[in-house]
Amino acid sequence: MCDPKILRSAAWFHGDQYEHLARRAWLRSEGLGDAAFDGRPVIGICNSWSELTNCNAHLRQVAEAVKRGVWAAGGVPLEFPTISLGEMFMKPTTMLFRNLMSMDVEESITANPIDGVVLLCGCDKTTPAQLMGAASADIPAIMVTGGPMLSGRWHGQPLGSGTDGRKLFEDLRAGRIGEEEWAEVEGCISRSAGHCTVMGTASTMASMAEALGMMLSGGAAIPAVDSRRYQLAESSGRRIVEMVEEDLRPSRILTREAFENAVRADMAIGGSTNAVVHLLAIAGRAGIPLSLDDFDRISRKTPHIANVKPSGQYLMEDFYYAGGLPCVMKELLPLLHGDALTVSGRTVADHVANIAIRNRDLIRSLDAPLNAEGGTAVLYGNLAPNGAVIKQTAASPHLLRHRGRALVFERYETLRARVDDEDLDVNENTVMVLKNAGPLGGPGFPEWGHLPIPTKLLRAGINDIVRVSDARMSGTSFGTDVLHVSPESAVGGPLAAVRTGDEIELDVPARRIDVRVEDREIQRRLDELPPRTPHYRRGYGKLFQEQVTQAHLGCDFEFLTCEAGENGH
Ligand code: FES
Repeated sequence: MCDPKILRSAAWFHGDQYEHLARRAWLRSEGLGDAAFDGRPVIGICNSWSELTNCNAHLRQVAEAVKRGVWAAGGVPLEFPTISLGEMFMKPTTMLFRNLMSMDVEESITANPIDGVVLLCGCDKTTPAQLMGAASADIPAIMVTGGPMLSGRWHGQPLGSGTDGRKLFEDLRAGRIGEEEWAEVEGCISRSAGHCTVMGTASTMASMAEALGMMLSGGAAIPAVDSRRYQLAESSGRRIVEMVEEDLRPSRILTREAFENAVRADMAIGGSTNAVVHLLAIAGRAGIPLSLDDFDRISRKTPHIANVKPSGQYLMEDFYYAGGLPCVMKELLPLLHGDALTVSGRTVADHVANIAIRNRDLIRSLDAPLNAEGGTAVLYGNLAPNGAVIKQTAASPHLLRHRGRALVFERYETLRARVDDEDLDVNENTVMVLKNAGPLGGPGFPEWGHLPIPTKLLRAGINDIVRVSDARMSGTSFGTDVLHVSPESAVGGPLAAVRTGDEIELDVPARRIDVRVEDREIQRRLDELPPRTPHYRRGYGKLFQEQVTQAHLGCDFEFLTCEAGENGH
């Protein structure tokens, strides 16, 4: 039992004024008795459950397991909802609402009598939104993600969400499979509760939560329906009560060393490019300096060792059976800050000391990696003065150095309307360019960056060409896609000046993306552009467009970031 004086909730419940009595009385209306007010920490369970977020639809059951743990350890669990962000349904894109959810999480925590919080999330943006909100609130917090779905299987082949779905859609467009087979895929690609089954954004961000130290070790990859996920939830419920007693807050865990560990793990697992934007935003909330240059510096020195789609062969369920992230961290240990603290109260090095890597085809050694460098490379050049990213481990090796003529689309709708056009002037050397798809242009930074390959190329057996945009792409996608070009075209970045016929040069080993047009001509073209009409005149959209930062800064709102030590309430 805690000394009530150290509890934040004491200010609500312990006292002899009318409001103290009233708060106790109203909580008793939920059936809680004296034991709720005898110095037990109140543990919030921040639940992003929603039937509109299918990946998180099982989190009410996960919350029940957390509650068992909280009660058993002497806390009082109180579950509360926030908005949820379902990748499959929300328009124009969940990324528009990540910051809104993070504000909901922060304010729900800080406005209420909560001493510690368990964060339940799963689908792509729900994880970074909760980490951002928890970092800002800075009371003890532990994360439990919902886990990946069971692996899909189709015609004897593993079927990974997004990655294989997109490949098969290309096969459909190219006439390699028929409508009947396509319909079968719909029935077997999503087999259970949980998030996407490859190292997409959800799996990557769950891994980032673990690598940052905000989740119990080994938690990220447990399948959603595996009983061990519910055991993890119960253990996390027990642990958060101890964390309150220890006053173990995110500000003690989310250090510069923790972020460097997370970036390194991201590179080793071939993680989603979206992790770059999210980690920058979480670091901004924690007051930790982190930049694109940190990602590239670490990427160059971190071999890609996790053989998981879309940068490898296996699915998340296999990754779990191979040992999951702890085994990756064990292999990476010589490159990590092993003394970084985690929510368990122990260090990263402690956690991996006694584990064995069970599948060397899936988790490779540093000496025999899948790729010598990490999953994401950061590019600069006259097309992206503030940076761009590419998932080099999921790109075509023969395109990593490429020069080609630009085929430019001003808007995504135009691209979609023309991609099946047999007369489209495109060949295997073309560099497809999409503008107006960044944080302000999209609006909201949609996942349009994996531009569809024109049907005439697919029919000719060409499945990848260089594509450049200021958009993001799904972590489940693959291909030679240059993404997050910053500044984006909608704010007058050089991408806005590119015209069909210009020559674009990509050189990933040299970390360059350039358009072969004179600087003066680029500026002349930019000066000629008409003024932009904002998408929103009111509401949250207006706040977003006034406050969102560019991709290289993490796309948080300026007023939500802080200097070290400024967070907390
Ligand atoms: Fe939710 Fe993929 S759609 S994780």
